[in-house]
Amino acid sequence: MQLSHRITHLTGGGSDGWDVFYRARRMKAEGVPVTELTIGEHDIGTHASILAAMNASAKGGHTGYAMVPGVASLRETVAKRIEEQTGVPTTADNVMITPGGQAALFAAHAATCNAGDTALYLDPYYATYPGTIRGVGAVAKAVQTHAEDAFQPRAADIDAAAEGAVSLLINSPNNPTGVVYSRQTLDGIAEVCKARDLWLISDEVYDTQVWEGEHISPRALPGMAERTLVVGSMSKSHAMTGSRCGWIVGPTEVITHLINLATHTTYGVPGFIQDAADFALNAGDELEAEVAAPFRRRRLLAKDILAGQNTISLVPAQGAMYLMLDVRATGMSGEDFANALLDAHHIAVMPGESFGQAAAGHIRVAMTIADEEFAKALQTLCAFATERANTVAAQ
Ligand SMILES: Cc1ncc(COP(=O)(O)O)c(C=O)c1O
Repeated sequence: MQLSHRITHLTGGGSDGWDVFYRARRMKAEGVPVTELTIGEHDIGTHASILAAMNASAKGGHTGYAMVPGVASLRETVAKRIEEQTGVPTTADNVMITPGGQAALFAAHAATCNAGDTALYLDPYYATYPGTIRGVGAVAKAVQTHAEDAFQPRAADIDAAAEGAVSLLINSPNNPTGVVYSRQTLDGIAEVCKARDLWLISDEVYDTQVWEGEHISPRALPGMAERTLVVGSMSKSHAMTGSRCGWIVGPTEVITHLINLATHTTYGVPGFIQDAADFALNAGDELEAEVAAPFRRRRLLAKDILAGQNTISLVPAQGAMYLMLDVRATGMSGEDFANALLDAHHIAVMPGESFGQAAAGHIRVAMTIADEEFAKALQTLCAFATERANTVAAQ
């Protein structure tokens, strides 16, 4: 019996740069005290008030099938939030609640790509992007961004890749680079999307983690609301990664079709989770600021530490919970550096190569451990890089 090509070719196969991560996990399981600066998981849990709301909802009986498009009140809350962010009139009919941002990314591509169509995404990229595109039977085509542009995408590069493509996936604030796209970048992207008749799938799951500049949703840009699908999530903004609650926002016609898709795939999101999300979104900015605060603090700590050395340079860390560090002065690839650091100091980071070709020679550091431990790990990392760079210089 056969397995479908779609499922067996979902990932690219071969080494995907996650070897360091799995090796660190194995070392940990064997009792080695590994400091993990790898995945995007908060070191705090979901806030007690959100859990209380979840509990009250479940105990109150909201444990049966929930409405497939989402609980009415949460859809309205999300619509209001997006309208406030973008100035574009948005109603519950523009919103579908999904099991996390990941399901929304899949739904967005299912809505826009036929089998064999080309869908664009930007390199470096969040690990699931190409597989998500392949998962709907489309062809994933990467457009490189460049370290020398601080990974702000070039409209001309997207335009050059756009012939025959149907969609473009972007992510700002960005994982893995920590870069927030400027208005100029987004204006350029919007112009290409309009000229090339592309859908724009805008992953905004880090919209509450902006340290510098401002988060601009392309839904707000002239002529873009009708061709933009916004992906959002409770995972990062409210430390609710395990609750699996996100959304997709777009034209009502798209949402109507996506409700059909959800009926035949997920059949919705648990009602008590949605009620907790609704509570959390209505709890106001302070709660979001509290969840974001550790990353805001650690980014400043990191900037101070990195200012004390000349080997590693920091890609402008404007948002999200990661730092992208350029380690090319060590003469090593990101993957070699990450492996050597793990061996020498039991510190695990992600090689830039895990996120595509554009971030080769870089590493991604997640700011997801306690401040003191984080600062110590970063100091060790810098000293290690300097030692390596000096060895290369002496050769
Ligand atoms: C850029 C980006 N998009 C989407 C997701 C998926 O988030 P979730 O499915 O937990 O909402 C993540 C998770 O790390 C991410 O980094």
